[in-house]
Amino acid sequence: MNNVTVVDHPLIQHKLTIMRNKETSIAGFRRLLREIAHLLCYEVTRDLELEMIPIETPMSEMMAPAIKGKKLVFASILRAGNGLLEGMLDLVPAARVAHIGMYRDHATLEPVEYYFKAPSNLQDRLIIVVDPMLATANSATAAIDKLKERGANNIRFLCLLAAPEGVARFTEAHPDVPVFTASIDSHLNELGYIMPGLGDAGDRMYGTK
Ligand code: URA
Repeated sequence: MNNVTVVDHPLIQHKLTIMRNKETSIAGFRRLLREIAHLLCYEVTRDLELEMIPIETPMSEMMAPAIKGKKLVFASILRAGNGLLEGMLDLVPAARVAHIGMYRDHATLEPVEYYFKAPSNLQDRLIIVVDPMLATANSATAAIDKLKERGANNIRFLCLLAAPEGVARFTEAHPDVPVFTASIDSHLNELGYIMPGLGDAGDRMYGTK
């Protein structure tokens, strides 16, 4: 699929298997999500442009590579996005953060926005939107609409699991936004859950039901 990268590193796949297991504890689930976020962050930032800057080591002056351009923005779709966000911030602590509050109306499966807070100058920054589950893609699509309305013009989307239906809908709505995921699962069930999936990511992270 165009514009979709499945990051199938063995460490990610192994950790994902443990996360899928319904016997995995809340603490284990949270820790693994953070660890996988590190590995996915490494991939999603792989092609960032570098520039050479002058520094002094204890031994001599040198020109050394540093990431070029404005600070990255990580945009977390609440609430499950925060699980990935934590791991991303471990690797890029200076990133700016946007929070986008969306919940799925369980009857219509449509996204309802209840919160939006983002850095004011989104233009020309790389924005990495994070949400563990790309299911119907309703929330992800709406979140990216909102970011584009605020001037965002360089966006990537990072999730843990995707459904083929969600990927199709998302890439049709936002063909300019590359998707990174650890797996594309079989299908969505009639309640909009990814099959075989891992259940409700937010509930498994926070122990709610
Ligand atoms: N959101 C989840 O947390 N799980 C799914 O399977 C689909 C959407």
